Amino acid sequence: MSLLQDLSWRYATKKMNGQVVPEDKVDYILEAARLGPTSSGIQPFRILVIKDAALKAKIQPIAYNQEQITSASHLLVFAAFDEYTKERVDAPFAQQEQERGLPAGFADEYKNNLFKSYSSQTKDQNFQHAARQAYIALGLVLAAAAEQKVDATPMEGFVNADLDQLLELDKLGLKSVLIVPLGYRDAENDWYVNFKKVRTSKDEFIINL
Ligand SMILES: Cc1cc2nc3c(=O)[nH]c(=O)nc-3n(C[C@H](O)[C@H](O)[C@H](O)COP(=O)(O)O)c2cc1C
Repeated sequence: MSLLQDLSWRYATKKMNGQVVPEDKVDYILEAARLGPTSSGIQPFRILVIKDAALKAKIQPIAYNQEQITSASHLLVFAAFDEYTKERVDAPFAQQEQERGLPAGFADEYKNNLFKSYSSQTKDQNFQHAARQAYIALGLVLAAAAEQKVDATPMEGFVNADLDQLLELDKLGLKSVLIVPLGYRDAENDWYVNFKKVRTSKDEFIINL
């Protein structure tokens, strides 16, 4: 199937059927996120994978009792850096220099300017920037899942501070951005499954100048 057919097939699944997504498919979907582009290649977010039923049950009320949280086999939590520290900016450049066989310090000028710019911002501005990088990965995860015929729902409908607290994300220097349950649609019982995909018309959406 083509990417456009996959994107037409997918929808924001409200109820999954409990079937478990095989680990090779989950790995494939996560790899799409890892391979995604990020600003300056810093990859300032992580994805937590939750399979434990008891933990998913604790998250459900934090997400306004949305059903896909517990009927999905895997729950992905996208969590972004709570700030850009010097170590966090330095590390990916050191890795790039090492893996590309470049002299140490090759990227110093760029990296130092970048850190200067981030450190002139508030912690929240840093986090908002990091969170935007996570949304790029979200798009890739949704496309990869659709290609694998795995249902995935992008979700912002949860109380971020409560999820952060439950998962103790502060200990990792992270704050939650999005959650994405992975599973298989319950085609008989999901009220949303047969709704037409409605989008802004091409004429309105694309502005040709
Ligand atoms: C950032 C984001 C947050 C969303 N949050 C939720 C959510 O909490 N619960 C839900 O059921 N759908 C959520 N959605 C799904 C959207 O409502 C849905 O993608 C949109 O209506 C288009 O429908 P489709 O994805 O089925 O094509 C979210 C989508 C995005 C992109």
